[in-house]
Amino acid sequence: MKGTKYIDTLKRPLKDLRISVTDRCNFRCSYCMPAEVFGPDFAFLPRSEMLNFDEIKRLATIFVHLGVEKVRLTGGEPLMRKDLPLLVSMLTSIEGLRDIALTTNGIFLPKHAKALKDAGLKRVNVSLDALDSDLFQQINGRGVQVKPVLKGIDAARRAGLGVKINMVVKKGLNDSQILPMASHFKNEGITLRFIEFMDVGSTNGWNYEQVISKKEIHNLIHNEYPLEVVEGQVYGDVAKRYRYVGTNTEVGFISSVTETFCSSCTRARISTEGKLYTCLFAETGFDIRKLLRDDAMTDEDISDAIVKVWERRADRYSDERTEESARKRKIEMSYIGG
Ligand code: GTP
Ligand code: 5AD
Ligand code: SF4
Ligand code: SF4
Repeated sequence: MKGTKYIDTLKRPLKDLRISVTDRCNFRCSYCMPAEVFGPDFAFLPRSEMLNFDEIKRLATIFVHLGVEKVRLTGGEPLMRKDLPLLVSMLTSIEGLRDIALTTNGIFLPKHAKALKDAGLKRVNVSLDALDSDLFQQINGRGVQVKPVLKGIDAARRAGLGVKINMVVKKGLNDSQILPMASHFKNEGITLRFIEFMDVGSTNGWNYEQVISKKEIHNLIHNEYPLEVVEGQVYGDVAKRYRYVGTNTEVGFISSVTETFCSSCTRARISTEGKLYTCLFAETGFDIRKLLRDDAMTDEDISDAIVKVWERRADRYSDERTEESARKRKIEMSYIGG
């Protein structure tokens, strides 16, 4: 019912919805879709199994009535879904939805940034893990250079979209890029967020030794470019915010391994094939597509089903992470979008 706040067993309200619109990506980042696993014969979802735009809009509308204020479109690479600006415009028409954002690798932004902005998109988070082109080509597994991503970032800015950069840091892979990335985006006045390497999915071979902690990254940057805390952290935000002293430019840390934030986790996730997940590290999801495709189901029925799932929710995976839990079978990043 509109106006009611739904909380889970740990008193966390439902506020954000992340929707994965495709399980495909033109990159093969080793920490997300390793090429050995997601090879030429990998069976991606057929179109009929993905939620269509009308289903996504119906579902998002129900979630907004349940208290969701922010929707983020993810993938795979969301801009590989045909006509994405059309979906954005359909979501923009939902009354009460305050923020629509997109997480992307940036390659297709020169083509789509303006149409996305015109459709009502507010912000993009662009993933970029290195400025060294050779290293970046190796990380993305597809030999894509840095330049097209920088062009995408530029196109988004020129279109008037808010832009932040996400850099996943993995020890021995791209730690050499922490300072060059900090320096570059400081000069550009763009917020860069450092993300601790996480044990998402079951294919990225994660272990603790490959994680560089928020504290280590912070200290490295702080020694070179002094940082100060930005006061007024927003409840539910994943990043701890800092500012380069004497500037308005921020830098963020997403420390899902060493300083977890489950106690304020307000996010629900819809996977590409229409399952509802209440944690990024979940093993199973609740099949909403089945309800959406059942003519007997009203919006009220679907809404009640979502509330039931949320009110039972007790997820706090990162708070409880162990080497053993990291080895468990979990939903892949490319279905759930981070
Ligand atoms: P903003 O609204 O701009 O703050 O976006 P965001 O940081 O919530 O979304 P984005 O897709 O840019 O995600 C950045 C990183 O945070 C990715 O690595 C996500 O996987 C991770 N992340 C987002 N939400 C969660 C969460 O609930 N739990 C964990 N462990 N990681 C998350
Ligand atoms: N650990 C941390 N972040 C990850 N991402 C993808 N895989 C991982 C991982 N294993 C990030 C991407 C993108 C966001 C959606 O999640 O770089 O910015
Ligand atoms: Fe694609 Fe993003 Fe995953 Fe890289 S991290 S493979 S760009 S979805
Ligand atoms: Fe939320 Fe799960 Fe991430 Fe914790 S680990 S913040 S419960 S998505």
